[in-house]
Amino acid sequence: MRPILITLIVLLPFNVLSQNIIINVNNRTNFPLNGKWQYIIDPYENGYYDYRYEPFDKNPNPYGGYFLDRQPAGKSDLQEYDFDKSPTLIVPGDWNSQDSRLLYYEGTVWYRRLFDYKPGNPSNRIFLYFGAVNYEAHVYLNGKKLGMHIGGFTPFSFEITDYIKDERNSVVVKVDNKRSRDGVPTLNTDWWNYGGITRDVMIVEVPETYIEDYFIQLAAGQHNILSGYIKLNGHSGIQKVKVEIPELNSITEFTTNEEGIAKVEIALKNLVRWSTVNPKLYQVNISTGYEMLSEKIGFRTIETRGTDILLNGKPVFLRGICIHEENPMRGGRAYAVEDARLLLNWAKELNCNYVRLAHYPHNEHMARLADEMGILLWEEIPVYWTILWDNPGTFDNARNQLTELIGRDKNRASVIIWSMANETPVSDARTTFLKKLALHARSLDDTRLISAAMEVHGNPADPDARIVEDPFADYVDIINFNQYVGWYDGLPQKCDKVRWTIKYDKPVMISEFGAGALQGLHGDPLTRWTEEYQEDLYKRSLSMLSKIPQFRGLSPWILCDFRSPRRPLPGIQDGWNRKGLIGQNGTKKKAFYVLRDFYRQKEVEFKE
Ligand code: GCU
Repeated sequence: MRPILITLIVLLPFNVLSQNIIINVNNRTNFPLNGKWQYIIDPYENGYYDYRYEPFDKNPNPYGGYFLDRQPAGKSDLQEYDFDKSPTLIVPGDWNSQDSRLLYYEGTVWYRRLFDYKPGNPSNRIFLYFGAVNYEAHVYLNGKKLGMHIGGFTPFSFEITDYIKDERNSVVVKVDNKRSRDGVPTLNTDWWNYGGITRDVMIVEVPETYIEDYFIQLAAGQHNILSGYIKLNGHSGIQKVKVEIPELNSITEFTTNEEGIAKVEIALKNLVRWSTVNPKLYQVNISTGYEMLSEKIGFRTIETRGTDILLNGKPVFLRGICIHEENPMRGGRAYAVEDARLLLNWAKELNCNYVRLAHYPHNEHMARLADEMGILLWEEIPVYWTILWDNPGTFDNARNQLTELIGRDKNRASVIIWSMANETPVSDARTTFLKKLALHARSLDDTRLISAAMEVHGNPADPDARIVEDPFADYVDIINFNQYVGWYDGLPQKCDKVRWTIKYDKPVMISEFGAGALQGLHGDPLTRWTEEYQEDLYKRSLSMLSKIPQFRGLSPWILCDFRSPRRPLPGIQDGWNRKGLIGQNGTKKKAFYVLRDFYRQKEVEFKE
């Protein structure tokens, strides 16, 4: 086998840089790298593995290093891989909806972007930040391997202070969206496997010692005491940090420890707590001797008491809907604030005060806009269906995605629930896996509620009995489960007979129910795929679920039709899951109005 000759390109010592948390990037000095990036489709990964299938990264071979970018001086024999002659994709954005050759593609695509950059201050530190890349990213800058990231829906960054140049920087990213048995998610999901650099990319510039991370929220159960921490990165040693909330005439100074961490506790007067009817946000300014970083933060409490969910101490009913991260009008991954506004405005039209962001962390615009709009959020990691529960690497991956999600959104008032899983078959290994995730979530954030879409089972002796009994229920604050009586389980009339047994003194919510309907297809309520069938199922489901004594909320499946390779039915699905209350064309179906009217009644019943 003739090896593919790749001319030796700049080979620097290979060491994977540690990734850095760097939150609130949009309020820092940043330089967007969004826009056109050249791309090369590489299904056999010849740009990464030599002909012996050894990664070039790890053991550069005599035929050259890894192909990155054709340096002007360099002459590459690998004529086939030439970014300068390659087409472009728009970043952020999935590749599936930008290039018809890639609609179903699962594999590697190489991206490259050239850019010049002059730091604002030569002593500043420079980071390369990605909002998300699905699924596995290997990142290089000017021939230097910066590192890799696994997980398609959370941010990561690398410090590039020592590698960035004033001119012609070449950032190259190997993106691989292949599914894997030990992945998170695993091989089978009911959503489109959108690959690519799917969220914002930017250069972030910070002072030598910068505010890396902070957590400032109302202490659990407190009405006017903020607590948390501020973490500096840079010069070690004790430093002063100031927290100012101008509108409340509050200025408090703290001192960090040797590791640059300051514990925060602030007593406030006249604090107006954030709520769904008054989403009050305060400008919070955090300053050190090197920088001042601001952001708008809402302060509220969320807790449970018996079967009630309390927002700021008052019982609330969560009038929700599930949302996938997809703009149905474009048929691709949502990533922009305009996409978030489209989806959350539809939820508001539905009279929602709550949204389940399924089945993975959505882009940061969603939580920030929900803060402004007064919409409560459930956020989750893609621990979905048949995860490889007894594989340590899979657990580490899930925990890392959970850490990155909580790290990014822990200051968002809208986020009230961290969900650990969706529809995962019960086993000892699975429940241990989820328990460890829940403990980890609580160790990072003890101010929010933990839940999961848990399992339901029947009783062979009693066909109308449905029982929610899941060993993980002991570790969550709210009982959630998905049920499809009337769609996968009988016809809608079955809802009239089913009796639910849920023996938990905790709030109960239904995280999914629904039926498919092709928007514009009409007929009698017993004809599947008609809007009338879906409408009838919603009416009967809402009546059935309202009989559950602990019923405190729901998020029906789903706001909009969405793409899924599991839904091919020609003429009806054509690669789309049709359970949306809104069609892929943005038109509302009849069931939309059934749910909206139900929520209007609930709004009166639970006057917020
Ligand atoms: C499941 C699953 C969803 C899926 C839905 C469906 O409950 O959680 O991801 O899309 O059912 O079958 O439409």
